[in-house]
This record gives sequence, C-alpha cells and structure tokens, in this order.
Amino acid sequence: MALDRPTPNDLRAFWMPFTANRQFKQAPRMLVEAEGMFYTTSDGRQVLDGTAGLWCCNAGHKRPRIVEAIQKQAAELDYAPAFQMGHPKAFELANRLVDLAPDGIDHAFFTNSGSESVETALKIAIAYHRARGDSARTRLIGRERGYHGVNFGGISVGGIVNNRRHFGAMLAGVDHLPHTHIPENQWTKGQPEHGAHLADDLERIVALHGADTIAAVIVEPVAGSTGVLIPPKGYLQRLREITAKHGILLIFDEVITGFGRLGSAFGAQHFDVMPDMITCAKGLTNGVIPMGAVLTTGAIHDAFMQGPEHLIELFHGYTYSGNPIASAAALATLETYREDALFERCAEIAPYWEEAVHSLKDRRHVIDIRNMGLIGAVELEPIAGAPTQRAFSAFLKAYEKGILIRTTGDIIAMSPPLIIEKAHIDQLIGTLGEVLDSLD
Ligand SMILES: Cc1ncc(COP(=O)(O)O)c(C=O)c1O
Repeated sequence: MALDRPTPNDLRAFWMPFTANRQFKQAPRMLVEAEGMFYTTSDGRQVLDGTAGLWCCNAGHKRPRIVEAIQKQAAELDYAPAFQMGHPKAFELANRLVDLAPDGIDHAFFTNSGSESVETALKIAIAYHRARGDSARTRLIGRERGYHGVNFGGISVGGIVNNRRHFGAMLAGVDHLPHTHIPENQWTKGQPEHGAHLADDLERIVALHGADTIAAVIVEPVAGSTGVLIPPKGYLQRLREITAKHGILLIFDEVITGFGRLGSAFGAQHFDVMPDMITCAKGLTNGVIPMGAVLTTGAIHDAFMQGPEHLIELFHGYTYSGNPIASAAALATLETYREDALFERCAEIAPYWEEAVHSLKDRRHVIDIRNMGLIGAVELEPIAGAPTQRAFSAFLKAYEKGILIRTTGDIIAMSPPLIIEKAHIDQLIGTLGEVLDSLD
C-alpha cells in the first residue's frame, strides 16, 4: 500500500535528539501513522511497536477517547495561565493522580516532561528542608547507571557516562550509589536474589558527608534507559529504611515504571515501598502530549504552606504546567487505563512475556536477559573495539523486518504497549530471534 505521505527531501535543518543524525539522514526511518500496536512507515509497511513509542504509549496508539478529549479541549479552552490562575481539569487530574498513587501521596505538581519532573522534585527536596529550617540539607544522591532525563540536575544525579561527560561540572554536592547490576544475577527472571546489600552503601555516603547535609536520594525503581536493571529483592526496602532513619527524602523516578508498566499504577505499589516523591511523565498522557508530574506526600506540601497567604509558597513552575489540553489528554488516558483494566492486563500477560523474552537465551551473542512486568532486555556481547555497533545493527534489521525495538549500549530493551496480545509477543520475539541469528 503506497501512502500519500512523501518523505521530505531536505532533512538538514532538524537536529534530531539522541540520534545518529548522519546515519539517519542517509536512510531515514519515517513513521506516518499509528494505531493499536502498529506504526505505519512512509513506505507503507506495518511495524509492530515493541517499545510503546519511547516507553510512553501504554494504551497503544490512536485511542479514540484520548483523540476526542484533545479535540474537544482545543475547541473549548486552549490555554489558561498557569500562574495565579486555574482551570478545572488540572485540579481534576491532580485528584485522579493522587487517587492512583500509594496512600500518603496527596499532591501533584505539573511539569512537561520526565526531565522537568526530576528537576522539580530535586528542587522541592532542597526547598522542603530549607522550609523546615534544615537548610544545610542540600546534597543529592543518585546512582551509577541511573537515568533522570537530560537537564542539569538530572544528569548530575544520573549515572550514564555519555550523558554527563560532555557537559562540564554539573551540580555540586552530588554523590552516587553503586548500580545494582552484578554478575551473580545473570539470566534472572524478575527480581534478582543478590544485591540488597548494595543499598547499604548509602550508610557509607552518610558517614562521609553527614546525614544533615543530604536532602534526597533519587532512584528509578527499575532502571530503564541504562538497559533495564531490576532491583534485587529487598534493595528498595533497604534504601527506604536507611533514608527514613537519616531524615533523607526518597524520590522514585517512575517516568517509565509509572502507569502500569509493572502491573500496578506505580512501581512503589508493585514493590510495596513508599517514597516521599514520585516523578512521572510519559504514560501520563499515553505519550500523546508532553506532560509530567511530581507527586508528593502531604508532609512535603504542607511544609511550604506557611507565612502570609498572599505570598507564593514555591518559586517554581512552567508556562505549560497543567496545560488544559495536556490535562484533558491525561484524564482521558487514565480513564482508558481504567476502562480497559490495562494495569491488571499487564500483570496477567507478564508471565507469558517473561517466558518469551527468556526463550532468546540461546540465540547468538546473547549474554544476559532481564525482565519485569512488560519490560524485557536482551544484552549482547559487544563487538571488540566497536561497542554499541552490534545492538544498533539489530535495531536496523529489526525495523526492516517490521518490529520496533530500542537499544542502549549493546542492550536491546523492549517495553510494548500494555494492550499487547500473545500473538504480538510471538511476532516480536520470533522476529527478534531471527534478527539475532543474522548478526555478525
Ligand atoms: C527514569 C526516567 N527519568 C526521566 C526521563 C526523562 O524524561 P523526558 O525524556 O520526558 O524528559 C526518562 C526518559 O526516558 C526516564 O526514563
């Protein structure tokens, strides 16, 4: 089927994000439509979406309720000032979000992306301690291999070398926990047995700097962008115990684990660990419109609610915080998740997914496989002297064969929409197996 969607013949002006621009522009991969589990390419091919876009289209593509909500809202109230003014849908959305979140999370602050959610949470953490008279608590603790978006706070607490090394000194007063990827856990299905003790490194950091200088620890419950690292059993509980003991806030960056990816609304519920703040984005609007949020406990919010009532309590916000069209999209998205019971669906199909992903164990070059919820990662042996090349070839071949996967380093990561059926899983994993066997 030839689509009437010509590829533009001049691709120079667009400097593409996180992309090998020169490679892309020699052989562009253009998506022009999407519905359900599939993209349509500009040359009329169907490509199975193995990544929910970028971990965001959890309800699949072109969901009628979301499309209609956006159209209706654009025609009704296109924009309302975000500062000192309100509109009903942002309040309704905040209520819906805190209802979905773990008990004790009572407030939502809106942003436009995961990166902005992270910056916002880090700033709230420091300002929270200051508001309580604890203004020496400014230090932020991240983790090696962590990904918290691309803004300066996020790359400072993040731990992926290429996202950091090009950008100067970053924030001062940051330290990192060790990552949790240890050889003993190779081929683990779900949560690994070994490594809870890695959380104890926080005690070393506390002993080094003094607890009274540390504002917050931020971690992804499941580290995604670094190539899917599943937390060892007991690890997140241990982090919670140590942070609580020392009065340090715990932030879960749930930009990818939020909205059903692990089979619960948030990873916090899945792991039964209650953080002080949750950052989210992506699945909040099914990826359709930029929006993120920071969810906080009442204690954090209430610490700011002091002083004369005509004064602004938190000097932070974005022109598009709680934008009406984004709010409408998010409300329709949450309703779609509820109506289709997609979080439960994820939990139901996860065992089938686990078996399918691990069936790739004996394929060429595979050195590890990890999974949880509807997340799967296949780690490849790098080509000597040419790291990332093997996985990138896999990505290109997979696309040619009609499946969209994602690679980071030499790790293939998959995170399909939660509407995925068993037949799609068979197609995705079957095709990926063929691709792996065809790699040099
Ligand atoms: C855990 C985590 N935090 C933050 C971000 C950044 O989100 P965004 O690209 O919307 O800024 C991502 C994106 O993948 C993420 O996975």
